Amino acid sequence: MFTFKKKQTATTLEKIPNHIGIIMDGNGRWAKKRLQPRVFGHKAGMDALQDVTIAASDLGVKVLTVYAFSTENWSRPDDEVSFIMNLPVEFFDKYVPKLHENNVRVQVIGELAHLPEATLDAMNRAIAKTKHNSGLVLNFALNYGGRSELVEATKQIAQAVQKGELDPAAINEDTIASHLMTSELPYLYRDPDLIIRTSGELRLSNFLPWQSAYSEFYFTKTLWPDFKRDGLYEAIKEYNQRQRRFGGV
Ligand code: FPP
Repeated sequence: MFTFKKKQTATTLEKIPNHIGIIMDGNGRWAKKRLQPRVFGHKAGMDALQDVTIAASDLGVKVLTVYAFSTENWSRPDDEVSFIMNLPVEFFDKYVPKLHENNVRVQVIGELAHLPEATLDAMNRAIAKTKHNSGLVLNFALNYGGRSELVEATKQIAQAVQKGELDPAAINEDTIASHLMTSELPYLYRDPDLIIRTSGELRLSNFLPWQSAYSEFYFTKTLWPDFKRDGLYEAIKEYNQRQRRFGGV
């Protein structure tokens, strides 16, 4: 339970989602509104990410999965792609110390083999530095695509069947879940309870398609750099009004 105040009105959040997924959208438009290059928006987006991560950690959220770069984002102009690829380096130097102080543990999902070496190295350093932390898991979806994650899982399962290690009749939902990249997350918190998308777009864009089967969705017109701690409170406030039935009555 957590109480926050806005304009003298106190709101109590009874239910805190264990796993929140965020599609951090609108950095480019935020920058454009300020007559700045798009990358200026990504810089501001990193500040927003730190703010939201610490807010989520204060609330007792267990996992925060953030869509930092999708497998489709390579089609952006080269200079923007290389700027985004350099963000983990800046993230490590500027943001990890404070997150580490807050007991945050960094993890990453995505097709990491194809990332530039410096990007991968910075992410690996963040993971190694925070690996003993027991607080919120900040899980970056970096070069992530949900369909290709399912293709990869299918190949692994098919290989296990071919080798005679797995009986096709024994394949169930858990078999699939345990071959997805989110299987590295704490078992009870693999699937997001709440997915937030900023900037007014109403799409999932290949973000955790399997894992979001029973997620609640929250869409806001706020652009990601403006979302911050208060934005998170508003999203969780709305989540508290939802009734999750998981197909039951
Ligand atoms: C979407 O806005 C944002 C991105 C594609 C990148 C977001 C990445 C971060 C905020 C930081 C990631 C941090 C690390 C450490 C990897 P957009 O560019 O699509 O905005 P637009 O829709 O307004 O054009």
